[in-house]
This record gives sequence, structure tokens and C-alpha cells, in this order.
Amino acid sequence: MKKDITYLHTKKQQKQLISVLTCYDYPTACMQDEAGIDIVFVGDSVGTNILGYKSEMEVTMSDMLHHLQAVHRGVTDAYLLVDMPYGSDRYGKQAVTNANLFLDVGADGVKLEGGTEKVPIVTALTEQGIEVCAHIGHNPQIHGSKALTHGKTVSKAKELIQTATELTDAGAKLIVLEKITEEISQIITGTLDIPTIGIGAGRYCDGQVLVINDVLGIGAPFKHAKRYQEYNQLTFEAILQYKQEVENGSFPTDANVAHIAADKLERVQKWLELERKS
Ligand code: KIV
Repeated sequence: MKKDITYLHTKKQQKQLISVLTCYDYPTACMQDEAGIDIVFVGDSVGTNILGYKSEMEVTMSDMLHHLQAVHRGVTDAYLLVDMPYGSDRYGKQAVTNANLFLDVGADGVKLEGGTEKVPIVTALTEQGIEVCAHIGHNPQIHGSKALTHGKTVSKAKELIQTATELTDAGAKLIVLEKITEEISQIITGTLDIPTIGIGAGRYCDGQVLVINDVLGIGAPFKHAKRYQEYNQLTFEAILQYKQEVENGSFPTDANVAHIAADKLERVQKWLELERKS
């Protein structure tokens, strides 16, 4: 069953938690969809996690479209969310044009980072019927990769709550809370009708999102994430074993090769002999 925004809102109403993972490629998309992940999310974290960029600010529309198309080929049921990359949502008209490029290749909704300055953009997208996920707290496109915790002072906590409300009133259908104190995330979750999706925002959000690389154990560990396997180590061991087996001749084996029938091989050899003599 295809998961739409109504399905996600119903999950919140029924107090069922929403699972979200970032995804950047086709095989991982197939696995996330088959596992029943609610939202498969093509984040602009593709830049630092896959493309080797120094920051999210280097990610372009064409990078996002390329990865979105690959992920879309693997998604049947999940809600497919995609990030508006840095600079692609500065003005309402530009944001609508760019968001439509994503919808044309299969996205169900777009996510954009920022606070109240993004209210007019959320309004412009919503007016065109485009489903928007807001994203407050730590915003890598604005604050860079050093993620400080937000919502520790009274004034910052009030600001976060007001910002979440304004973005929702502008039409946001979902909101990511990144690196926000657990207590303030809980208040925001209780205040809003739309689902909150936390990352480093504690236990009381309507759902959780993690970066797939952090789940698989690719790259450095983070406090907010849980490593469910050690990809780096497993992959390095596999590469090393391959290299050793190629070099010592134990790969390939007979199980990995194709054969020509003996009678046909004999005919080829006879032909070759005649060729050489002539
Ligand atoms: O791009 C990304 O990975 C994100 C998550 C941190 C939510 O925006």
C-alpha cells in the first residue's frame, strides 16, 4: 500500500511512531521499502555521505535529481521525501519550479531547512499543492556541520516553539526537529497537529530519522545515532579478502566460470591449427 501524507498524519493521531531513513541509491531504496520504512528520504546529506563534498552547501539540484531518480526506482510503498538543496528555495517562484522538478520524477514531498524566514516559501509551495516538510533546530545548510543542541535557553526554546507553529500554519505537513532538547521537542510534538520527526531530538517525537550511513556504521559515530552494523569494517575485510584471493589465485573457482562444450572446443582448436599453418 502506498503511504501518503494522510497515512502519516493518521499514524500521529493513533500514536504510532513513524520510521524515516535517508537513502541515496537504488538497492538501499529497495531494502528500505521492503522493510516497511514509512518515509524514504533523499537528504542533501548525500553530498557529504556519498559524493565526498565538504558540506551540504555544495549539493546541486542535478545531484539531488540524479539520486532521487535512483531511489524512486526502488520505492513502491514508502512516502518519498527529498531535500531542497542549498539555494534552491530562496524565492517562492524558484522553490516551486525546483520542487516541481522533484515531483516530476516521483517525489511525494519536499523538505526545506530554515526558520520563520522560510514561511513565505512554505506558503508558496503549499498554494501549489506541494507537500512540504519543514526542518528546524540544527540546519546544516545554515549552521554548517558542527551540530550544537538547540532549545537550551528560555528564549531559544520559545523561538523554536513559535517557529514550528508558524511553519505549520503556513502549510507544512511534516517537520524535522534536529538536535533540539528532548523537553522542547516534546512540547512541539504536543503542540502541533502535524508529525514531528526527530534526529537527536529525544524520545517523544512522532517519528525518528537517521542517516543510513550512521545506521550501517559508515563513517564516524554520533551520539544521537545507533550503529546497527559495522559496514566500514565488514567492507574493508571483504575488499582485503578479494585482493588476497585474486593475488593467490583462489578466486575465481570453477563455480564462477562458464565453459564451452568439449566437442566444440575441439573444433575450435582444429580450426586454430589450420589457421596457424596457412
Ligand atoms: O539531509 C539529511 O540527512 C537531513 C537529516 C539530518 C534529517 O536533513
